[in-house]
Amino acid sequence: MNINKDISGENMNIILVGPPGCGKGTQTDAIVQRFGVKPLSTGNLLRSEIQQQTQLGKTAKQYMDKGELLPDNIILSMVEQELTEQQNVLFDGFPRTIAQAQGLDNLFEKLQRQIDVVIEIQVPDQVIIERLSQRRVNIQTGATYHLTYNPPPEGEQVIQREDDMPHVIAGRLTVYHQQTAPLITYYQQQGKLISVDGQAPIEQVCEQIISKLDEFLNPQNP
Ligand code: AP5
Repeated sequence: MNINKDISGENMNIILVGPPGCGKGTQTDAIVQRFGVKPLSTGNLLRSEIQQQTQLGKTAKQYMDKGELLPDNIILSMVEQELTEQQNVLFDGFPRTIAQAQGLDNLFEKLQRQIDVVIEIQVPDQVIIERLSQRRVNIQTGATYHLTYNPPPEGEQVIQREDDMPHVIAGRLTVYHQQTAPLITYYQQQGKLISVDGQAPIEQVCEQIISKLDEFLNPQNP
């Protein structure tokens, strides 16, 4: 692995990549707390635009309800507005295509920054289908639950996302394999990829991520 020795926990930009429902959102809080990065989920930004009924939200809904990706230029300009020179970022659900990854490299170059590490959460398609059909979300807080493994507290108002309906899930997986999975090789070739087993229980996935990130940052430690 190509270790950049200047990286520290306080100076690191991270990408979470993996199929829809692999647990990117679920793992975000722990990484944010451990490494002090700002979470940036393009899916959450788009859902917020939909809730506010903006023009972007109306456009986004047409793509999201079908499980299709929005055009790269729309996503890149939305992300650009969120980036600052100072704040380190944890990207969740972005980039989604090689063009977005290259666009991010260009944006970061202007800010004299770079992506330091990419965490791939590996989960097979069959498990994804089960997870997404059992997922429920709190539309107000953004909290995500699983009816069996991480049930919502009693009385909490939760909904099923439009794109978690069975016919949409299959399309999202196809889109992932065709358009997003090539990013794994893209970042592997740059020596920035670490992979974890996303089929383990939520806490164990979290432990794997934290320990592999620590290992990445401190390669000399046993
Ligand atoms: P987005 O919101 O990014 O959705 P996604 O990538 O499809 O990912 P999800 O949010 O569905 O899943 P997740 O990996 O966060 O899993 P979670 O933690 O919730 O994108 C939605 C749409 O927006 C896209 O389809 C596209 O239209 C558009 N879009 C967004 N970004 C875009 C971009 N960059 N370019 C173009 N278009 C874009 O977990 C899932 C479930 O599993 C939960 O119920 C959870 O409790 C459970 N779970 C998690 N981990 C475990 C575990 N280890 N064991 C058991 N259950 C678990």
